[in-house]
Amino acid sequence: MPTPRTGRVRVAVLISGAGSNMAALIDAGRHADAPFEVVLVLSNKPDAGGLAIAGSGGVATAVVAQAAFGKDRAAHEAAVQTVLEAHGVEVVALAGYMRLLTPFLVGRWAGRMLNIHPSLLPKYPGLDTHARAIAAGDAEAGCTVHLVAEGVDDGPVLGQAAVPVLAEDTPASLAQRVLASEHQLYPRVLADFCRSLD
Ligand code: GAR
Repeated sequence: MPTPRTGRVRVAVLISGAGSNMAALIDAGRHADAPFEVVLVLSNKPDAGGLAIAGSGGVATAVVAQAAFGKDRAAHEAAVQTVLEAHGVEVVALAGYMRLLTPFLVGRWAGRMLNIHPSLLPKYPGLDTHARAIAAGDAEAGCTVHLVAEGVDDGPVLGQAAVPVLAEDTPASLAQRVLASEHQLYPRVLADFCRSLD
């Protein structure tokens, strides 16, 4: 019989920007009964706004600037991997990490790396999801948390949340409504995922 895990799953959140999903995950990981804790926030962009939020909340931060590696994605990912290992990371949560991953990092974290995307996948992988949903006349938009596979915003879906598209919506107003639902969905799905690990 497997020994039940003691302690919380050690999660790294990878960001490139504002980090509002990151903040929601950090907060959720601080609940008394949370099955995970955010032990590291790592950015590929030195100016990512989320770094300051994480740092002021006492979470370890790291920058592995892609600019320093030029076109050498493999070397950049090897450096990312070194930092993840140094922090004893068990699960990686991509949260607005706007860099395509190579099979190296995807393979290293197979089944242990999650991503959030602002559409109801398989609709609208990639960019400009909200403008595309409005242009298509969709009645619903939303967000998806999925395990990361090699394609862009691809991999088994772990959870989705839908929000209505309103007649007066602009891409910005829809993005705001979807983002609020992301902040609910991601902590819940990550918690369920971490509880399912042995
Ligand atoms: C979020 O809407 C997230 O779903 C999206 O970037 C935003 C990051 O916001 N991710 C993608 O588009 C990935 N393909 P945040 O930095 O405030 O969490």
